[in-house]
Amino acid sequence: MNMESLNETVVVNNISYSLTELEKDCWIRLVNGAVKGRDSFHLPAVANFSDGEISLRTVVLRKALPEQRELRFHTDIRSPKWKDLQMNPVISALFYDASARIQLRVKGKAVLYFNDTVTADAWDKTNLSSRRCYLTPFTPSDFSDIPTSGLPTYIEQEEFTMQESEVGKENFGVVGIKVGSIDWVWLNHAGHRRAFFDYVNGEYRWMVP
Ligand SMILES: Cc1cc2nc3c(=O)[nH]c(=O)nc-3n(C[C@H](O)[C@H](O)[C@H](O)COP(=O)(O)O)c2cc1C
Repeated sequence: MNMESLNETVVVNNISYSLTELEKDCWIRLVNGAVKGRDSFHLPAVANFSDGEISLRTVVLRKALPEQRELRFHTDIRSPKWKDLQMNPVISALFYDASARIQLRVKGKAVLYFNDTVTADAWDKTNLSSRRCYLTPFTPSDFSDIPTSGLPTYIEQEEFTMQESEVGKENFGVVGIKVGSIDWVWLNHAGHRRAFFDYVNGEYRWMVP
């Protein structure tokens, strides 16, 4: 790591950050994104490879674990992304907070949790409304002759119990993103700023935006 760069600071909203402090701030923002439903970082776009093409979608950030450098979201294990990630775990997540004017581009490798303690813990905390997604008998992303949720009316209208929703657990998976790097960009009228946190090579660097 370049020691001179480490002593340099950037002032964002009147707070001065060294590279080390900035990296910590990224994780504070990610943790906030996971726990606060209205936070700008709550709904990242996540990309992976699918049959040689890029596949991109919005997900709900469910967990950010700074110590493990891991982000998690929930998905149906019957979905194309689950199968694609089994074949190629390369994954990227994009966050933008318009009020702070901060973008994070996260790159990493996916770890797929299914039928284990991580999944059981996440499933137990999932509410009735969210559980509906996992109760369709159909395969997510399959084509249909009609516009449909794939759910019977009583499930659509949440006329089922938590007990009855337990069958959905067999379709429920957690995707973990083991973060390899974070590319931080701050848009500023007096000149943008950019930093790169490379966990694979253990380097924190400033960049030209
Ligand atoms: C606001 C929003 C949040 C979403 N959250 C999730 C999520 O947490 N997990 C998920 O699998 N899909 C989520 N989706 C649906 C995905 O964006 C996507 O349409 C779906 O997962 C199919 O993706 P795939 O065909 O690439 O597997 C969300 C969509 C929106 C609009």
